[in-house]
Amino acid sequence: MTQQFKSVIGGVAHHLPDNVVTNSDLEKMMETSDAWIQERTGIRERRWVDTEDKTSDLGVKAVEKLLQKVELNRNEIDLLIAGTLSPDLYFPGIGSIMQKKLNLPNVGAMDIRTQCSAFPYSLATADGLARTGVYRNIVIVGAELHSPVLDKTTRGRDVAVLFGDGAAATLVKAVPLGDNESRPTAQNTVSGVIDTLLGSDGNGAGILTIKSPGLATPGFVNHDVVEKGEYFPYMEGRTVFKHAVTRMLECSSSLLKRNNITAQDIDLLVPHQANLRINDAVADRMKIPADKVFNNIQKYGNTTAATIPLCLSEAESEGKLKKGDLVLTVAFGAGFTWGANLIRW
Ligand code: UT7
Repeated sequence: MTQQFKSVIGGVAHHLPDNVVTNSDLEKMMETSDAWIQERTGIRERRWVDTEDKTSDLGVKAVEKLLQKVELNRNEIDLLIAGTLSPDLYFPGIGSIMQKKLNLPNVGAMDIRTQCSAFPYSLATADGLARTGVYRNIVIVGAELHSPVLDKTTRGRDVAVLFGDGAAATLVKAVPLGDNESRPTAQNTVSGVIDTLLGSDGNGAGILTIKSPGLATPGFVNHDVVEKGEYFPYMEGRTVFKHAVTRMLECSSSLLKRNNITAQDIDLLVPHQANLRINDAVADRMKIPADKVFNNIQKYGNTTAATIPLCLSEAESEGKLKKGDLVLTVAFGAGFTWGANLIRW
């Protein structure tokens, strides 16, 4: 019989810039207030790079920490999957830039461009490839450098206060299944990735976006774009909020249903960190108590592709995520895209 494989999470680590920017710091840059930001989003502070670090450098630092934590030699990595919406260059992607900076062998390296949903998409990709047995040690990275492209004036306050810089890396290992060994399911206690669900709706493409530069802009980038500040992120916040709650609920319940479990079987819900009110609404409607939901948006804001692995990394080191736990991750973001993963830790 052909050898079968399952994919397991081999470890998670994160890197955050040292520079803490509080809501009070933002009050000095734009018309906003600590009270407004906390009440509407839950955010108290975020990290903004004050060094020369680019997105790839943040990602590299997260991977270095991961390799040290799981004691894996870099020569054993056979695929690098990098999620980001803030790449160093228009092209190539940060995957190959990180491959060089990490001094990895000439393994495959690719970028996943699904913004806040990068983790579910990256894990779905890694899980599929690990199950073939061809790839044994896949590193997934979520890395974002938002701070240089935020409009830090009153004009951009609805977006600028939300985003933070940071990175997190996850090792996905292909593990051979023994003769009578079961795959991980929501019913057994076998560790590994159980199931993933992905979705998208391009009707939302213009609602949360950076409009320019891009090939849709005459001249790629022009004076008009610069004058209007169209190179800053644009978001219709209320519309995104409503879609986020609806899709995160829909996607979670479909994933739970097709695995024959209910939300009450989940040990830890790890949602994307865009707004604490979104996560409270999702947990509330799923009837998941607060002690089974992990949030850290209060300290880091929205680090987009990095949020979920950053939560997993912190939850594990705080003892809130233990071996054998059933974890549900769920994300929603620009595209629109969304996705969820069911993992036995
Ligand atoms: O990760 C990708 C997915 N992203 C999301 O899921 C984000 C979804 N959206 C949101 O989280 C929320 O919509 C926001 C936090 C962006 C905004 O909160 P809101 O409760 O929807 O506020 P709003 O946009 O309806 O604005 C309410 C008021 C407005 O003033 P008026 O028109 O009522 O006078 C805004 O101009 O708050 C004003 N405002 C601010 N005031 C102080 C907007 N931003 C700020 C600010 N400080 N930073």
